[in-house]
Amino acid sequence: MSPFQEDPIIVIGAGVTGLSVATLLQSQYPEIRITIIAAETPTTTSPSADYASMWAGAHYRPIAGSTAQLKQEAEMAQRTAKVMRRIAQESPEAGVAFLQGVEYLEDPPEEILRLKTGDVYASTNDEFRVLEHAELPFGAKWGCEYRTWCVNVQPYCQWLLDRFITNGGQLIGHRLSSAADAFDFARQIGLGRVKIIVNCSGRNFDQDPKVKIIRGQTVLVKQRYSKTVTRQNRDGTWTFLIPRPNGGGTIVGGTKEIGDPETRPRPETRQKLLEQAAQAYPDFVDSVDKFEVLKENVGRRPWREGGFRIETESVAPGQRIVHGYGGGGRGYELSWGAAERIVELVKASAPAKARL
Ligand SMILES: Cc1cc2nc3c(=O)[nH]c(=O)nc-3n(C[C@H](O)[C@H](O)[C@H](O)COP(=O)(O)OP(=O)(O)OC[C@H]3O[C@@H](n4cnc5c(N)ncnc54)[C@H](O)[C@@H]3O)c2cc1C
Ligand SMILES: *[C@@H]1O[C@H](CO)[C@@H](O)[C@H](O)[C@H]1NC(C)=O
Repeated sequence: MSPFQEDPIIVIGAGVTGLSVATLLQSQYPEIRITIIAAETPTTTSPSADYASMWAGAHYRPIAGSTAQLKQEAEMAQRTAKVMRRIAQESPEAGVAFLQGVEYLEDPPEEILRLKTGDVYASTNDEFRVLEHAELPFGAKWGCEYRTWCVNVQPYCQWLLDRFITNGGQLIGHRLSSAADAFDFARQIGLGRVKIIVNCSGRNFDQDPKVKIIRGQTVLVKQRYSKTVTRQNRDGTWTFLIPRPNGGGTIVGGTKEIGDPETRPRPETRQKLLEQAAQAYPDFVDSVDKFEVLKENVGRRPWREGGFRIETESVAPGQRIVHGYGGGGRGYELSWGAAERIVELVKASAPAKARL
């Protein structure tokens, strides 16, 4: 009998982070009992703005830079791109697709200007190319194209969850009062003595002062664009199109409003987003009235100063929490790379007797 039978592991959260961690752990250690506890899941009919995974675009857009944080994120993003490539090839129903990524910048920073055609940008063999001046739209000073991927977020999370359950995982819908509360809750519901909890709760517990709200409003339209394109405007606003694979329409976005608590879509924001998109990408839709709007979205990115918190905390003798939250606006594109690091910490946290 496996020593892990008595030491189930709990993952808090059924967003892209929790689902990736639970899936990866399960594939490496099929004998461990893994339970996800989550207040909201991919089947929740009206997800809250705080369940970020339901509101993302989502595409992979690399961020060039040489800070320690950006370098770590670049590594996680490249790992994730590898896994996503396999998923797109092996499981088209998962809602991940590779396509062309395009970027236009009106006011490019130094580190962007240093990039050259042929550099590794999104991942190896991504066909990265700096655009010629003549290829740039009016107002753009720099542009590039490369191979990247997009994901249709709700079906993708549902796909991860379904596989997790099919492979013996358990999901409990429940709102915890704190991450530490999961130890008691597990005992109450008969899961036995839990020693390791993985905290993938997004920004929802609101105990970490480094976590901030970054509000994002976008519009989902029925039309489908063939590539994902992002324009960074001089005034700091963003105009992007993110097609959702498998007939999911296209996300037109989007805002990044720091500390803005409004969870309802603002009509004036919607109007501005559609106007900017029609102006920037007339080959997609050339006037606001032609957009077939399906849905308006407001989500909160679980942004954290310093980036993802991936670390172990000892809360009591024999009780450890492995944290995995704070992916900000990059939770999907970092998901598998972050999950690998979180799983490493889970392994290192296992009591000696049951060392994974
Ligand atoms: C408008 C917008 C656009 C975005 N675009 C992109 C993009 O293009 N690419 C990209 O990579 N990322 C994008 N993101 C960011 C991405 O959505 C997040 O980084 C990611 O979804 C975070 O996932 P998570 O699993 O860490 O947290 P969440 O998705 O927030 O999940 C948290 C989970 O924890 C559970 N939970 C929380 N509190 C409790 C509690 N007390 N008890 C029990 N369960 C609890 C929740 O119910 C939920 O299941 C975007 C976000 C927004 C808002
Ligand atoms: C768990 O994650 C939340 C973010 O949702 C964070 O505020 C909190 O400090 C973490 N740790 C505990 C013990 O809850």
